[in-house]
Amino acid sequence: MEILWKIENLKKIYEVKSEFTKKKVVAIDGVSFEIYKGETFGIIGESGSGKTTLGKTIIRLIEPTEGKIFFRNTDISEMKETHLRPLRKKFQIIFQDPYKSLNPRINALRTVMEGMDEKLKMKEKREKAEYLLSLVGIKKERINNFPHQFSGGERQRIAIARALSTDPEFIVCDEPTSNLDLSIQAQILNLFLELREKLNLTYLFITHDIKVMKYISDRVGVMYKGKIVEIGKTEKVINSPSHPYTEKLISSELKIHQIP
Ligand SMILES: Nc1ncnc2c1ncn2[C@@H]1O[C@H](COP(=O)(O)OP(=O)(O)OP(=O)(O)O)[C@@H](O)[C@H]1O
Ligand SMILES: [Mg+2]
Repeated sequence: MEILWKIENLKKIYEVKSEFTKKKVVAIDGVSFEIYKGETFGIIGESGSGKTTLGKTIIRLIEPTEGKIFFRNTDISEMKETHLRPLRKKFQIIFQDPYKSLNPRINALRTVMEGMDEKLKMKEKREKAEYLLSLVGIKKERINNFPHQFSGGERQRIAIARALSTDPEFIVCDEPTSNLDLSIQAQILNLFLELREKLNLTYLFITHDIKVMKYISDRVGVMYKGKIVEIGKTEKVINSPSHPYTEKLISSELKIHQIP
């Protein structure tokens, strides 16, 4: 299997400054793992364990403090922004709350067109956006509607179409279904699976929910206090966990993320 990502001893320490003090928060505490091309690699763990930080650091939305990040054998951990720029469009991230990430004043079509390659002509952008919106299940007659005119699930579909607009190879999915009703959640998970096949995508899929993880991930890393304490095929990790924390996590069916 082709290795897409190789992460070596990655660390992220946040420095939190207030008026008189400087505090260090070790969010990622030396993790190493690989992600294979075409797989969905799950990250599971309780709130504050470092999942979001890990996802963002890999794609250099957050600067790593220490460690190496290889994308296709190229070390991008210290790559300068000018060299990183062409790579950036290959990486995307989708968040939990599409309402926060979509601009309320920009309609669905424009939202998807916005981040596209500058070299594309307006007409090409429009056609591509229309195609992507149809791919994620937004009907043509609604593509000029604004975010508030869509349901939560539809908004997440639009956010997904926008992420696809740069032809990414890799998407960090940060709890993308946690805010959705169960039936909608299943539809969006199926969409992710469908798109992965159609577009040769690879996912890092972050979730609190064992059921979601079981459904979507091929392999999974269990995070605990900034470390990956267990890693393996999802089924194996769930059916015969080797770390006591994983066992606890599974037996308690996880602390399902609280929706505010
Ligand atoms: N920008 C920041 N500055 C300082 N500390 C941060 C920052 N972002 C996250 N942290 C801290 O780093 C640790 C890991 O946070 P992170 O958001 O990565 O966890 P998470 O597993 O994604 O949690 P959740 O499940 O709640 O989303 C936490 O202790 C958090 O408070
Ligand atoms: Mg998070």
